[in-house]
Amino acid sequence: MYILAFNGSPRPGGNTELLLNEALKPLREAGHTIRLYQLNNVIIKPCQDCGGCTTTGTCIHLDAMTEIYDSIKEADRIILASPIFFYNISAQAKAMVDRCQAFWCEKYLLKKTIPEGPHGRKGLLLLVAGMKKNEEGFRCAEATAKGFFRTVSVPEHEILAYSGIDAKGDILKHPTALKEAYEAGKRLGNTAIK
Ligand SMILES: Cc1cc2nc3c(=O)[nH]c(=O)nc-3n(C[C@H](O)[C@H](O)[C@H](O)COP(=O)(O)O)c2cc1C
Repeated sequence: MYILAFNGSPRPGGNTELLLNEALKPLREAGHTIRLYQLNNVIIKPCQDCGGCTTTGTCIHLDAMTEIYDSIKEADRIILASPIFFYNISAQAKAMVDRCQAFWCEKYLLKKTIPEGPHGRKGLLLLVAGMKKNEEGFRCAEATAKGFFRTVSVPEHEILAYSGIDAKGDILKHPTALKEAYEAGKRLGNTAIK
């Protein structure tokens, strides 16, 4: 299967990346093809609401999204991983999500969904947040991620969200997070579920 993963954290080796790598581990072990985008390291111009995609479903701006659009179409599984920044996913992740407005136009205006492929399309959302209680941040981020997944024709996704994870490496001290991420990755690689 083709696994597409997005890391929305700007912090190299940060909590999001550690969690994401753990989820990717079983998928690598199973020999799936993995494409990981470090969103902080690519240029994605925020959506300009120019209307360029409304009649075609294709964004007229050429940047990293040009390649990401193809990756999203080809993917069997999509993982979106992000820290909570101001009660939502990071700006890096949100810029990518907003540019999926082109898919929204394609799906809802032009009535063209991305084909399911032989394994169906499934998603995984990974979130980390510094505050000990972060229901509101997770709720907002989950709503954004749900909009993203449904827009790119991923009908179901799992969510793992961890609060009280602030300093770099805090996620390593969490009693269950890494194991849960590994297990979620394993489930994601399960081709039997369609
Ligand atoms: C700009 C910024 C905004 C943040 N906003 C929140 C927030 O709204 N709620 C929260 O719980 N933590 C917030 N945090 C803390 C991060 O979510 C936390 O440090 C997280 O572990 C960072 O993940 P990373 O190591 O993958 O970058 C914020 C951190 C930054 C830098």
